[in-house]
Order: sequence, then C-alpha cells, then structure tokens
Amino acid sequence: MPDLFEKSCDSLPAREDMAPGAVLLRGRALVVEDGILAALGSVLAAAPFRHMTTPGGFVMSVAMTNCGEVGWVTDRSGYRYAVADPESGKAWPAMPESLRRLANEAAAEAGYAGFAPDSCLINRYLPEARLSLHQDRDERDFSQPIVSVSLGLPATFQFGGLKRADPVIKYRLQHGDIAVWGGPSRLYHHGVLTLKQGEHPKLGRQRINLTFRAAL
Ligand code: SIN
Ligand code: FE2
Repeated sequence: MPDLFEKSCDSLPAREDMAPGAVLLRGRALVVEDGILAALGSVLAAAPFRHMTTPGGFVMSVAMTNCGEVGWVTDRSGYRYAVADPESGKAWPAMPESLRRLANEAAAEAGYAGFAPDSCLINRYLPEARLSLHQDRDERDFSQPIVSVSLGLPATFQFGGLKRADPVIKYRLQHGDIAVWGGPSRLYHHGVLTLKQGEHPKLGRQRINLTFRAAL
C-alpha cells in the first residue's frame, strides 16, 4: 500500500535553522500573499524599480526601490539610507501596514520580538540578475535582525559567515519563504546566484525580494 504521507515526508521543513540566530521560515508569507502583492503594487506605482550604480561605477543587475521612512540607495558617492527617493526627490512611499506586520511577526517567530522596521528594500531579479556576496552593514543598530521575504521565481541564496571567504550554504528560496537573521549572524555574508529562466504563476518572469531592516 502506498504511503499516504510520502509527499509531506519528502517536502522541505517549514522551519530550518540556517546558522546561529538565522532561521528560514518556508512558505510563511503565503497566508497573506494577496495582501502583500496588492501593497507591493501601490508602492511600485509610486516608486518604480531602477538600476542603481555601485560606488565602483557598476550598474547593478538587480533593480531596486524602497518603502518606509528611509530607503537604501547606492551611487558613485557610496551606499547609504536616504529619506527621499533620488529619482523623484519625494519621500519614499510609506511602508504598508500589511508588510510591517508580516516582518514583525516573522521576526518574532525567529526569536526577535518587537522588530520595528523603518525600511524595506525591494529587489527585482529578472533571469540573469545576481547579487554578489555582501554584508548588510549600513544600519545603525546591529542588534536588530534582517527579515527577507522571497516572492516569484525561485533563487539560490548563499549564506556564509562573518568573513567573506567563509564557506557558504546554499538554500533554494521559493515564493513565500522568509529568512530572518540577526544576533550572532547579523553580519553574515549572503548573496543570490544568477536567476534562472522561469515563469511564476503569480509574478511571471521575475523574483522579488523584500528586505526589512531597522536602519535608523
Ligand atoms: C539582499 O541581500 O539585499 C537580498 C537578498 C535576496 O534577494 O534574497
Ligand atoms: Fe543583503
């Protein structure tokens, strides 16, 4: 007789420890999927994706925008958080309450109660886009975690260590997955390998990642 539980036994665990202080909550965003996608649509209408330039002069393959009190930007003069969108000169769109709540709840489930993000960086990866290994270190208070929500096409996320040369572990991040890292792994290196071609039923030919941070 076939094992009725075969499928669930084969599927990935809903919660996985990635490193000390780092947890992957698979599918966690799916319960609020429609609300998040609607909120994202309004943010993108007010602050469209754009390709920013690194301090070294390279145009990033990942397109970005932000919502919240401040937004992460990069240009020839460096990386920083800015209160205004440099493209429009206006404040970034406010962080929708549904997004703020999701980030707060995911952080609490990962062991970081009371997370109050003031910034959400929105990354768009089309096939061939990638994000090289880096640390998130432009925030003021490293006691606050990072909450990272994956939407759309799957990607290979690399999670390493404090040193750039530390070995990395690869995770396949899928639509609805949330990774949270903080505490001892707050400054761990991470990156995204070149996105493969594909078509997501809700988002089409792209991956969108939301990174929530307490920047100020
Ligand atoms: C980031 O590190 O800014 C984004 C990570 C991701 O896209 O999963
Ligand atoms: Fe990052």
